[in-house]
Parts: sequence; structure tokens; C-alpha cells
Amino acid sequence: MTAPLLRMESVNAYYGRFQALHGVSLEVGEGEAVVLLGANGAGKTTLLRALSGLVRAEGRITFGGTPILGRRPEWIVRRGMSHVPQGRGCFADLTVEENLRVGAFTRRDPAGVARDIRRWYEVFPRLGERRDQPAGQMSGGEQQMLAIARALMSRPRLLLLDEPSLGLARMITEGLFQRLREINERDGTALLLVEQNAELALGLARRAYVIAAGHIERSGPAERLRADDAIRRTYLGL
Ligand SMILES: Nc1ncnc2c1ncn2[C@@H]1O[C@H](COP(=O)(O)OP(=O)(O)OP(=O)(O)O)[C@@H](O)[C@H]1O
Ligand SMILES: [Mg+2]
Repeated sequence: MTAPLLRMESVNAYYGRFQALHGVSLEVGEGEAVVLLGANGAGKTTLLRALSGLVRAEGRITFGGTPILGRRPEWIVRRGMSHVPQGRGCFADLTVEENLRVGAFTRRDPAGVARDIRRWYEVFPRLGERRDQPAGQMSGGEQQMLAIARALMSRPRLLLLDEPSLGLARMITEGLFQRLREINERDGTALLLVEQNAELALGLARRAYVIAAGHIERSGPAERLRADDAIRRTYLGL
């Protein structure tokens, strides 16, 4: 078997003296969609932040076979990992188009960047209609789409998504997940998705991990976790 695109082995992460991740191991294959479930405070955001070099961590993380733990966040983006943080994270004072250009900071192909901007305007038509408007003046759902499109402007091999559906209406969320499915299946972009809407997330992902109190508690095929009684009660509200 070839090495997975992303491999975390025995990773600990800290905020000051507080240890938020305890020996976390997780893999994402090339082009795979993986979901990470867990209660509030379990360590989901911290796990994504450890991957992106945004929190102090120890252990081993390789991406495309290269060790990345301890590298700077910009370096990790250049290697092909892009992060949509919890709570969006658009530049409110920049226009929609300026936000997309910022997302392409790693690239030196202006024609390709222009093509990709047009493409995301087609995928997310609201962004095209509002291209000259400050991002901060858009609705929550529109800003979430912009945050995702901006992360995709670096043409990542792996997209990290931290609760993309937070605060969105059900219909908007379903549309968003449809777009994510296309990005995964057509472009082959691997996804590591943190999501409260476990039902939708398990429908998109092939495999899932469950994190509790900074430990990986369960992992396996999405279908199997979906059928598990404890998971259904805790995360699916069934
Ligand atoms: N900046 C910080 N400083 C100190 N402790 C933090 C910080 N951020 C998070 N923590 C702690 O780390 C633990 C994991 O937090 P994390 O944000 O990763 O949880 P989460 O699973 O993403 O939760 P949620 O579903 O609420 O977003 C929690 O106990 C939290 O209180
Ligand atoms: Mg979080």
C-alpha cells in the first residue's frame, strides 16, 4: 500500500501547560473524505490547528511523505494543505475578489488564478454577484462559501474544514455539502471535515474518527459508525 497523504502519529498538543490532544493518530488517503466527530471541547479544532502549525504540538505528522510538524503555517499551505477555520475567517474589509486573491498567495500563475476565480464564481454564484463588495457585508452563509473558495484558491491536495455548516440554514448546508462532494469527487481534493451535522458528514465521508477529551475514541468506515448505537445517540440525536 502506498503511504497515505496525511499521517498523524502519537500527536500531543498544548495550550500553555494544558494538554488538549493526547497521542492522536489519524490518516487521510489521497483524495479521501474523512470526518472527525466529537463533543464541544473534545479537541477537534485543536487537531486541525496542530496539522496547520497553529498550536504547539509534538509527535509526528507527515504530509505527502514529508514531515511537517514544527513548520510554519505558510510553508504547510505551500505543501498543499489548506484550512477553513471555525467561524469562517474572511477578511471583512477586503472585497470578495480580494479575499480570493489572498487565498492564491502561494501561486505565480496569474492566468490560472483568474481562471480559478471564474470557476468559483460559477460554483458559488452569490460570490460572483458580490465580487466587489466587502466580505463583511455578506451573510453568514455567503461568507462561509467565500472562506471555502478562498482556501481552494491555493489548489490544495487536502482541505481542512472546521464546522462549515455552523449557523447555516439546512438548505444552504445541503447545497454546500453538494459542492464539497463535487470538489472531493471531481477534483480529487482530499477532505478532513469537522462537522456537528453528523448525518450529513457521514454521508459525505468514507471514514470517520471520534475524538473525546483529546483522545481518538473510535474510528472506522462511516457506514459502520453510522449504524453504531452509541454514535447514533451521541452524535446523530437518534
Ligand atoms: N486558546 C486556548 N487556550 C487554552 N485552552 C484552549 C484554547 N483553545 C481551546 N482550548 C481548550 O482545548 C480543548 C479542546 O478545544 P477545541 O477548541 O479543540 O475543541 P472542539 O472539539 O473544537 O470544540 P467545539 O465543538 O466547541 O468547537 C478544550 O478543553 C478547550 O477549552
Ligand atoms: Mg471547534
